[in-house]
Amino acid sequence: MHLTLSQFLSEARRAQGAPDACLQQLIETVADGCRTIAAQVNQGALGCTLGSAGQENVQGEIQQKLDLIANEILLEKAAASGALAAIASEEMAQIHLIPDGGAQRAYLLLCDPLDGSSNIDVNVSIGTIFSVLRCPRGEPLTERAFLQPGAQQAAAGYAVYGPQTLFVLTTGEGVHGFTLDRGTGLWRLTHPALRIPEQTHEYAINASNTRHWYAPVQRYIDELMAGKDGVRQKDFNMRWIASMVGDVHRILMRGGIFMYPSDRRAPLRPGKLRLMYEASPIAWLVEQAGGAATNGYQRILELVPGQLHERVAVFLGSRQEVERVTHYHHAV
Ligand code: AHG
Ligand code: MN
Ligand code: MN
Repeated sequence: MHLTLSQFLSEARRAQGAPDACLQQLIETVADGCRTIAAQVNQGALGCTLGSAGQENVQGEIQQKLDLIANEILLEKAAASGALAAIASEEMAQIHLIPDGGAQRAYLLLCDPLDGSSNIDVNVSIGTIFSVLRCPRGEPLTERAFLQPGAQQAAAGYAVYGPQTLFVLTTGEGVHGFTLDRGTGLWRLTHPALRIPEQTHEYAINASNTRHWYAPVQRYIDELMAGKDGVRQKDFNMRWIASMVGDVHRILMRGGIFMYPSDRRAPLRPGKLRLMYEASPIAWLVEQAGGAATNGYQRILELVPGQLHERVAVFLGSRQEVERVTHYHHAV
């Protein structure tokens, strides 16, 4: 029988002393929020969840209705959890302080409520990404409290809303996947101790940006595309879901490398993905599953954010491939 998420976390707490009771409660609350979001996603055109909300977020991106619905669901659940002092979201310009944040409220939550927004209306996999940090004590709670490197995360994970709905989690003791049982509403451990194969023949990049790439990325991709006829001496296959969660989930299942580089449009375009809502939590999951994650030069987990909505270049997945493309960056 598959353990429920709650049983799994309680067992981990007994065996390793972590997560603590407060963090366990918070993780279960986020998972509960993801189950509610999944129900909204499934409603599709039968609900009121498709289409644009007709407004922009702080990144200048048009928000979809589901971006806002997912954000509200997570805000509402998280505020009631009792474990949180504040929450930051890709969809909110400012941090949201939880009223009555007292001594119990030991954690900060960051989230990308709906990842892969361009996929919502076309019924392709989308997700939710979250990251939990410890709330610093003894200072007024401002945005500064959130500006911690990913290496300090207490928990991170994502839900993927695809043919199956999964919740994938790390608290620093490996990566574990739970499938939503729609009959009972329970998350059940179906993918314990996920490991990313070191080698792969699959890569993911938005190739429509080719003309903007810097030389190291161009070199790496040229070599992959040359396949058997080039220095790599094997053929590679390409996949691009346009939802980082979807691409990363595939990589956790069977290996691969995912890239969203910065390009010649920088500094306006220092990559597309957000360090704190997307790159850091996914980087920790990938490293915990035996893979690697860099910005081309450095481990993503070591980057100290300068601001909440900062963007970053991302290379992550199978270790040998990430090391190779990172080496190419250092070589120029
Ligand atoms: P979001 O929907 O949260 O804005 O994230 C979309 C991100 C990421 O999930 C995906 O890999 C990438 O943007 C897709 O970018 P392209 O539009 O270049 O395909
Ligand atoms: Mn996203
Ligand atoms: Mn999003």
